[in-house]
Amino acid sequence: MEHLRTIETDNGDNHSSRIDYSSVIKAGVKLGFRDRLANFSESLKYQNKEEQHLYFRAIDSSTDRITKVVDNSGKYREMLMFGSNNYLGLANHPYVIQKVSEVIREFGAGIAGPPLLNGYSKPMVELEKRLSALKGTESTLIFSSGYNANLGLVTGACIRHDLIIADEYSHASFFDGIKLLKGKCITFKHNDVKELETLLAENHPEGDVFIAVEGIYSMDGDVAPLDAISALAKKYDATLLLDDAHGTGVLGEKGEGTLHAFHIDWSDEVILGTFSKSFAVNGGFISGSEELVNYLRFMARPYMFSASLPPVTIAAVLAGFDVMEKEPWRRKRLHENVRYLTEKLERFGLAAEPKGGIIALSVPSFANIRKMASQFNDAGIFLNAIEFPAVPFNKQRFRISVSANHIQADLDRLITVIEEIWYNNFNNTF
Ligand SMILES: Cc1ncc(COP(=O)(O)O)c(C=O)c1O
Repeated sequence: MEHLRTIETDNGDNHSSRIDYSSVIKAGVKLGFRDRLANFSESLKYQNKEEQHLYFRAIDSSTDRITKVVDNSGKYREMLMFGSNNYLGLANHPYVIQKVSEVIREFGAGIAGPPLLNGYSKPMVELEKRLSALKGTESTLIFSSGYNANLGLVTGACIRHDLIIADEYSHASFFDGIKLLKGKCITFKHNDVKELETLLAENHPEGDVFIAVEGIYSMDGDVAPLDAISALAKKYDATLLLDDAHGTGVLGEKGEGTLHAFHIDWSDEVILGTFSKSFAVNGGFISGSEELVNYLRFMARPYMFSASLPPVTIAAVLAGFDVMEKEPWRRKRLHENVRYLTEKLERFGLAAEPKGGIIALSVPSFANIRKMASQFNDAGIFLNAIEFPAVPFNKQRFRISVSANHIQADLDRLITVIEEIWYNNFNNTF
């Protein structure tokens, strides 16, 4: 169990952190604030110009399959978008745009206050009900982001003498919640149910035990074995915290999410989701029992002390719900697109079997992923490189986000470009 780590709650790092500590510590000495800024600015100068163009590329249209992009060199063009989690193609859907336009006329641009005070809008009440119905839970509360939902969940639901046992690939926002709580968290190897059970059997905290996993993992696009994990939660009287950011809208008959895909009826699981993936806007939510939701409304500080989502954003999610119901072909098309790409890309090395809208293409540790990312950019393909220090060198990968709006020609173009890049970078062996 050498991979077993206890999360350090004060300054602990984890695989999701992107801080380059070389710009914070120099020759073993912790730099002062101004020196940190200067050191970081200096390090940026040494970045290859082409690489610099890959970050903060300005989007100048909706992020649909073809997206207008201006990169840092000032180059302006249309690119094939494989870097947006717009899984169902709702970002630019005419019905969503129409509904949002109606609501902005009625409610204005924003609401300027948190839910407890003036930020609890009528569309928000309606959306809470729709989310509870989708997830099959008693109640739901809505946060201004998925990140805040995770912070609010961990710091609101757990206390320091509890133990949280988490999959090592859990999202940064979950680990940041642990740091904020200064709580006790141990991780188990990704999707390793056996190790999870060992940890459950061996650890007897003073407080309660929580198990934290994702439905579909954001890094590799694979699915958690929720049948086994949910059974373990029951066996060991632990509460399951399920981050279903990438499963919501994607898995289940009607997009209910990963629990439904495993035919598990909700009992007391705590389900977290975001609006930043399938619904293509922003915001997050937690669904569960009435008691839990009422408790979090007062205990989750990112809910209590942060302004609500504006009614226009809520309207976009509500409209997205309508589209999901009226156009179930979108979910089917997404899965067809993923299946097609998976079949064609298997020979290049997939990090895991994709089950949702993400395909993770592994890059050998000796490869120059920055150079390859630049080649994708040059070829007009917009996708995200997941690099060290976000992941270890041997886990670097390209993350392909697939959409229902991608057409066959888009998929084939992506495959051709991957073939060319792999061929050029790996001694013509592909
Ligand atoms: C699994 C998971 N949880 C939470 C979040 C945070 O969501 P948001 O971007 O809506 O703040 C993300 C976003 O990448 C995610 O992938």
